[in-house]
Amino acid sequence: MKPTEIRALLQLKSFEFNRQTRRRGKSHSIEDLRRLAKHSLPKVVFDYVEGGADAEVTLADNVAGFHARRLFPVSLSDVEQPDARVSVFGHELPLPLGLSPTGYTRLMHSTGEIAVGRAAAAAGIPYVMSTVASTSVADLGQISNLNLWAQLYVLKDRDQTWAFLNRIAGAGVTVLEISVDTTVAGFRSRDVRNGLTIPPALSPKAIVDIGAHPSYWLQFLRAPAMTFPNMPQQSEGGSIGSISDFFESKLGWDDVAAIRERWNGKLLIKGPVNGPDAKRAIDLGADGIHLSNHGGRQLDRCATTLDLLPEVRAAVGDGPLVVIDSGIRHGSDIVTAYALGADLAMVGRAYLYGLAVAGEAGVSHAIGILSEQVQRTMHLLGVHTMAEVRANGASLVRDSRGL
Ligand SMILES: Cc1cc2nc3c(=O)[nH]c(=O)nc-3n(C[C@H](O)[C@H](O)[C@H](O)COP(=O)(O)O)c2cc1C
Repeated sequence: MKPTEIRALLQLKSFEFNRQTRRRGKSHSIEDLRRLAKHSLPKVVFDYVEGGADAEVTLADNVAGFHARRLFPVSLSDVEQPDARVSVFGHELPLPLGLSPTGYTRLMHSTGEIAVGRAAAAAGIPYVMSTVASTSVADLGQISNLNLWAQLYVLKDRDQTWAFLNRIAGAGVTVLEISVDTTVAGFRSRDVRNGLTIPPALSPKAIVDIGAHPSYWLQFLRAPAMTFPNMPQQSEGGSIGSISDFFESKLGWDDVAAIRERWNGKLLIKGPVNGPDAKRAIDLGADGIHLSNHGGRQLDRCATTLDLLPEVRAAVGDGPLVVIDSGIRHGSDIVTAYALGADLAMVGRAYLYGLAVAGEAGVSHAIGILSEQVQRTMHLLGVHTMAEVRANGASLVRDSRGL
C-alpha cells in the first residue's frame, strides 16, 4: 500500500477527556447503559434500581414477555422516513414514549429529577413525577416546555393527599396517576439483604465503598441532603419503612371517586389492572389506565402488562388512553406495545441507568437510543406511521409461544 492509503486506514481519533462523554460514546443500547450504571453505582444503589420483589419472577418475565413477541415485516412497502409521532392528551409527541415515576431519584445522581425533567422537556415527551420525588414539584414546574405529570401514593392522611393535589396543580401538572399496586411495599429481597436505608446511611460498608466509587460519593456528599419535599414534613429524611407508613394500605373504588371529584386534570389508574377493573375505572371518570406491575417490584409472579394489554384495550374501547410500562428496554418493545393496543410506552430503569451514568446527558442518551430503535424497527417492519402499526398490529406482532 501507498503511505497515503495506510494513513487513510489509520483511524486515530483524539482522546475524549470528559469521562461522561466517553461513557456515553461507549453505550449503544440500554443494556450498555445498564452495565455502565452497575459499574458506576455502589452495589446497594444499583440493586435498589435493578431489583424486583421476592424471587424476581415478574422482573424476568417482563423482559422475556417482550422478547417472546416476534415481528413480521411487510416487504417492499416504500418506507423512507417512518413517522413515529403520536398525540397524547392534546400534545404531539415525537414517539409514543414517556418516563415513568421513580422515587428517590437523587440517589442515582445528585441532579435527580431536575436532570430527568430537562431531558424529557428537550425530547418533548412526558415525565411523571413520583410522590416520593426528591425534588419539589415547584422546582420541576419551572422547567420550560416540560409535559409534567404526577403519580400519587394515596396518603393515610386525606388532608395531606388533597394538599398534594393542590400543590401539583399549582405547579402546572396536568395528568395525575393513582398507583393502586402499593398498598403494602413489595418485599425487595436485595434491599433487605443490603440493608438499604433512604437516604443511604454511611455505614461501615458504605465507607469502604467510597474507595470503589469515589465520584459517586463525592457528588452525593457535595449535594444538599436528600429530602422528600412533596411529602408531609415528618417523613423528610426518613427511612423507606417510615415513608411507606404514610401510604394508605386499604384502597377502594370510593377513593378513586373521591380523587376524581377533587382533581380537575386528566386521571389515570397505575397498576396491573385487569379488563373489568379498567372498565370500572373509566366508568368512574378516569381518562385512562397506566398498565404497570411496578417493574416487578411489587407482587411477584404478577401477570406481565403485555399479557394484560389486549383485555384492557378490549374492555375500555378506543377512546381512553392506555399507557404501558414494565420491561421496556428497546425501541422494538415500544413498537410492540403500540401494535398490541398501548397508546404510550413508559420506561423506568432504562432512563435511570442513563441518569446514573451521565446525569441529564445520560437520560437524553437513553431517550435517543430508544428513539433511534423505534425509527429503525418501523423502517425494517415496513410501516410508515404509528397509526399503521396499530391498524396492522395483529399481523405485525405475534406471540412466538403460541406459534
Ligand atoms: C428505582 C425505581 C423506583 C420507582 N419508584 C416508583 C414510585 O415512586 N412510584 C411509582 O408509581 N412507581 C415507581 N416505580 C415503578 C415505575 O414507575 C415503573 O412502573 C417501572 O419502573 C417500569 O418498569 P421498568 O423499570 O422495567 O421500565 C419505580 C421503579 C424503579 C425502578
